[in-house]
Amino acid sequence: MTDRPERTGPLAPTTTDEDLGVESSLRPRRLEQYFGQERIKDGLRIQIEAARKREEPLDHLLFHGPPGLGKTTLAMIVAAEMGVSIRITSGPALERAGDLAALLTSLQPGDVLFIDEIHRLSLAVEEVLYPAMEDFSVDIILGKGPKARDVRLKLNRFTLVGATTRFAMVSQPLRDRFGAAYRMDFYDDDALSQIVTRSAGVIGCRIQEDGVHEIARRSRGTARVANRLLRRVRDYAEVRADGVVTSAVAGAALEQLEIDELGLDQMDRDLLRVMAERFGGGPVGLDTLGAAVSEESDTIMDVYEPYLLKIGFIQRTPRGRILSRMGYEHLGMQPPAHLGPQVSLFDNGQFQD
Ligand SMILES: Nc1ncnc2c1ncn2[C@@H]1O[C@H](COP(=O)(O)OP(=O)(O)O)[C@@H](O)[C@H]1O
Ligand SMILES: [Mg+2]
Repeated sequence: MTDRPERTGPLAPTTTDEDLGVESSLRPRRLEQYFGQERIKDGLRIQIEAARKREEPLDHLLFHGPPGLGKTTLAMIVAAEMGVSIRITSGPALERAGDLAALLTSLQPGDVLFIDEIHRLSLAVEEVLYPAMEDFSVDIILGKGPKARDVRLKLNRFTLVGATTRFAMVSQPLRDRFGAAYRMDFYDDDALSQIVTRSAGVIGCRIQEDGVHEIARRSRGTARVANRLLRRVRDYAEVRADGVVTSAVAGAALEQLEIDELGLDQMDRDLLRVMAERFGGGPVGLDTLGAAVSEESDTIMDVYEPYLLKIGFIQRTPRGRILSRMGYEHLGMQPPAHLGPQVSLFDNGQFQD
């Protein structure tokens, strides 16, 4: 493996305390401040209104999609719209069946229990969840040895909200127990512009409309990235300009962060380049790619690959990932003949770096 400096770019998987603090302060609290994802919001509005009319808790919900698209935020908003409390935990945090049982028995009527990374629950814990979701009950064992006996405890009715970046890893029995599963989409530039504008207001950043657009279109369709870029651009504007974010200031700041015209960062470009130069455009497996760029293959799969797939720069095949013609063109390289004639989407190589 090659030595790489620690990654600190806007997509770096390690989240700092500062990120977490700012991130929660930027979280919209109500559905009307949650921009984009219209299909999901429409579905939720109907479910919420129906549940409120019946004075029942909401059906269990599963949100899935790449990181930073707003799964945690939406879980909190669902609880707020229902007027109930939310308890937050995650698959890896629930180590033993008893941890989950304790949490479940402490829920108040109607509460939301949010389990992040729900694909990482152990089987023993998952099995506690089945009767809890279906019948609002848990089976616990009282006592030890020959005197031990099974007791079935009734729970208050609650709503489970699960989130995952890996829908395929959620077991079928668990999936079947959710009343609805929503796949989060990457945001379009309009929604990202609304997010950047709102966040700029929250953090008190002076920004012009063209500055908003510059950040929005280079945010990889991802709300979290838009917010992080906004903060870095604001730093730059305060130090190198007069504090006002214009498109020129945003462009200069993003260039300094090595974010290119399409919003791709150094790791994205490393991945594309390694595919082209070391593996002849693929197919290449994720583990091999990960080793070549010194990054966990899980991180590549969760964080980098979804957007590169979405913009058509790479494709998934049964034998591994392949670099597409557009991927080659973005690197300023001639695609191999089998990918067809070069029809450049990007005029005169202006996107080469
Ligand atoms: N639809 C949205 N509108 C406004 N801000 C959003 C939206 N979705 C996400 N965000 C912001 O992006 C950040 C990341 O969202 P989060 O819910 O933590 O993503 P996930 O849980 O999917 O990784 C949060 O700070 C949140 O404020
Ligand atoms: Mg989250």
